[in-house]
Amino acid sequence: MKHLLSISDLNAMQAISILDTASELARISDGQVKKLPTLRGRTIVNLFAEDSTRTRISFEAAAKRLSADVINFSAKGSSLSKGESLKDTAQTLQAMGADAVVIRHSASGAAQRLADLEWMSGSVINAGDGTHEHPSQALLDAYTIRKHLGKGSRDLQGVRVAIVGDILHSRVARSNVLLLTLLGAQVVLVAPPTLLPVGVESWPVTISYDFDAVIAQVDVVMMLRVQQERMSDLFFPNSREYSRYFGLNSERMSKMSAQAIVMHPGPMIRGLEISADVADSARSVIVEQVSNGVNVRMAILYVLLAGGPLEMVTN
Ligand code: NCD
Repeated sequence: MKHLLSISDLNAMQAISILDTASELARISDGQVKKLPTLRGRTIVNLFAEDSTRTRISFEAAAKRLSADVINFSAKGSSLSKGESLKDTAQTLQAMGADAVVIRHSASGAAQRLADLEWMSGSVINAGDGTHEHPSQALLDAYTIRKHLGKGSRDLQGVRVAIVGDILHSRVARSNVLLLTLLGAQVVLVAPPTLLPVGVESWPVTISYDFDAVIAQVDVVMMLRVQQERMSDLFFPNSREYSRYFGLNSERMSKMSAQAIVMHPGPMIRGLEISADVADSARSVIVEQVSNGVNVRMAILYVLLAGGPLEMVTN
């Protein structure tokens, strides 16, 4: 495997192997040694052409823990936009000898376009492209779910997950639907009809407009941010209406089953899709998602750039 552009690049075995590698790396980071020499002398470029806190810092921490050199390139306000300019930037990175480019871009397909350039010799990792995909987020979500509910199994057979909110604009939802179903989970999407994409009927999921009917039935409630920056029209009457029907507050949360967990990829809009008390509650694994993210991204970099089973370097 050279690139990670979409979850559809992975089969179940490859996905599980990334999650297993992440577990192994987590074991190492919990111990005395925080840093591995695995990627010493390699250069990883973080090319972020769209806002990001968690994902960018997480990839940076992951690369550094594997001893790689990291170059952060934030394109906000620079000449990088789309098409030709992305290509020119990529050429510069290539000339600097980047072994991997982690790219976030507002255009769906930007990561693929980079990987398709025939002179691009490094690995390309999609850190979120438009409304298309965000595979490393899905992997860290699957990792988090497995840790809490996997009952020791390596896949997610039979786990029931509700993904709730702005599905239409969410690359997190797209990647999660692909990965969670690949690993055997059952996914239900809960959203107002206006925030579901055209063609959603063909996705391997069930759909509900009734959050209250779904909430008691699932093991995981994954809330999504309302992505106002991608909305040119009005998709719901007002924020209060949205929260009332599709927000997670403590009253609604009380209907969840005993072991069920609450997730959110961040950034959260407290008071809109999730109330502050829910976000900070004992059921919330939102902060843990962030720490798991570093181990999962280390695993991704490891599998793409070093390859081979982890034992080879740790022993
Ligand atoms: C998500 C993203 O950027 O797609 N955030 C993230 O990577 N943690 C979700 C979002 O922006 O709402």
